[in-house]
Amino acid sequence: MNRKEKVLSFWDKLKPTLESMILKPDADVMDRLEKKELLTYLPSVKGKDVLELGAGIGRYTSHFALKANHVTTSDIVPKFIEKSKEHNAAFSNISYIAEDAMKLEFSKEKFDFIFINWLFMFLEDDEVEHLTNKFLDWLKPDGIIFFRESCNVPERRRTDHYYANYRNFHFYTRTFSKKFTLLKHDNIKNSEIHFSDPFQCFWLFQKAASVIQ
Ligand SMILES: C[S@@+](CC[C@H](N)C(=O)[O-])C[C@H]1O[C@@H](n2cnc3c(N)ncnc32)[C@H](O)[C@@H]1O
Repeated sequence: MNRKEKVLSFWDKLKPTLESMILKPDADVMDRLEKKELLTYLPSVKGKDVLELGAGIGRYTSHFALKANHVTTSDIVPKFIEKSKEHNAAFSNISYIAEDAMKLEFSKEKFDFIFINWLFMFLEDDEVEHLTNKFLDWLKPDGIIFFRESCNVPERRRTDHYYANYRNFHFYTRTFSKKFTLLKHDNIKNSEIHFSDPFQCFWLFQKAASVIQ
């Protein structure tokens, strides 16, 4: 199986629910605590153009749509996108794309902010690297990208029934620092404190206004 087949063979079997997005017990508690914390790390999206990749059923999409000018939200699994449309039916400023993140194309400097909550771990190293070039192209000068990934998960804690790359967090810092300026990197404190999971890492990077591509 290639990467896309492996990913789809896992995600396509799941129901479009909160539990499927989080894949841990107490998904509702985790959703509430993590979201509350994670949103404090994000820049203001008021009047901005936002891109969300691997968005699942749209747990974060409505937060962006409330204030952003426009949100483009995308996931490889069509039924997740359909659920997100249901959840976010009240908003008229969201575009939905059911597609592999690796296949997406946008015009140059289209977005102010790119948001990713668990996607790179389902891609190969060279695909992550390839996306950094695309992000550089898609982001406006000074544009910001936030991403969160599960990193360094020890063997004994791994959920082997699905395909994921639990990378050392240095991989992401190194790969993105080649093209972007690091603004912040840490782990999610609520995951560590309430779920004994210190492996949930996030990064905030910025595209320099005068970046040479
Ligand atoms: C752990 S879920 C997280 C979903 C959402 N970001 C959230 O936090 O609720 C990972 C998501 O990544 C999506 N995904 C995996 N590989 C993808 C790819 N190559 N392109 C787009 N989406 C992908 C899955 O379908 C799934 O919805």
